[in-house]
Amino acid sequence: MATQQPKTRSRQAADAGGTSAAADSRAIISFHHVDLEYHDQKALADVTFSVANGEFVCLTGPSGAGKSSILRLVAMDAFPTKGQVIVRGMPATRMNRGRVPELRREIGFVFQDFRLLEDRSVEENVAFAQLVVGVPHQQILQNVMRVLTQVGLFDKRHRLPRQLSGGEQQRVAIARAMVNSPKILLADEPTGNLDPVTAQEIIDLLFRVNDGGTCVLFSTHDHEIVKTFGQRVLVVDGGRLLSDERRRVPVDRTASLVDHMYRAPAEATSPAPRPARREPAHA
Ligand SMILES: Nc1ncnc2c1ncn2[C@@H]1O[C@H](COP(=O)(O)OP(=O)(O)O)[C@@H](O)[C@H]1O
Ligand SMILES: [Mg+2]
Repeated sequence: MATQQPKTRSRQAADAGGTSAAADSRAIISFHHVDLEYHDQKALADVTFSVANGEFVCLTGPSGAGKSSILRLVAMDAFPTKGQVIVRGMPATRMNRGRVPELRREIGFVFQDFRLLEDRSVEENVAFAQLVVGVPHQQILQNVMRVLTQVGLFDKRHRLPRQLSGGEQQRVAIARAMVNSPKILLADEPTGNLDPVTAQEIIDLLFRVNDGGTCVLFSTHDHEIVKTFGQRVLVVDGGRLLSDERRRVPVDRTASLVDHMYRAPAEATSPAPRPARREPAHA
């Protein structure tokens, strides 16, 4: 029974997170009556929700519903036409544009089409994310090995993206998104190009990321994924938030393939055991 399940990080975070976004100082992301228009095309209308630090949220709805637009607003890749978006305490306003790069360092991105550098190896793709934020060289190698171990790709670190399966490429993209230890991971239809089994492996990996304390927001239009997702689900359609459901479905991830992937190779510098559950920190 759901009530007998131990509390997960996400459940603790969900319990702490309120829906009155603007007023909730515990929120890492808050939307307050947000409209978004692209030229004359309305993409979002009156969207209000907040996400607590450490939560794991699935954003779903049909194509054109506004899922990507919500993620773009979180990344401050777009600014609201009306209403307020606040991410890690920073209001999304054009005046704050100069601070957006600083905010983006706290955010990892994963896309449906992976967006890897095709002429760089797995290792170089992940290292690149560290180079651009100026991490010292000696630390880069260590961090890259750590995240590649976590996603189960340490042994394939010298391959090019085209020498990997779609699921493996997406795992590289997740490693790249995680190497800078972001507070928020945004994944826009990360399973959109994958078969159902591989898609579930990617969702399991996102659970791992969330177990480590990162707030995860991912979008999908896939009903099968939404049906079995035991955390918070936001449904959007026609630019409106139709429902915000905090589920209490016990999800057994103990037999996950990701558990197998997480067994670090002997030569890896820092193996990544399943992290102990912690109380969510404040945003
Ligand atoms: N750059 C853009 N210019 C104009 N309209 C856009 C743009 N991006 C998205 N839209 C429109 O905004 C609405 C929401 O799109 P989007 O957020 O991409 O939906 P989803 O990710 O759920 O498929 C759609 O009607 C779409 O056509
Ligand atoms: Mg989209």
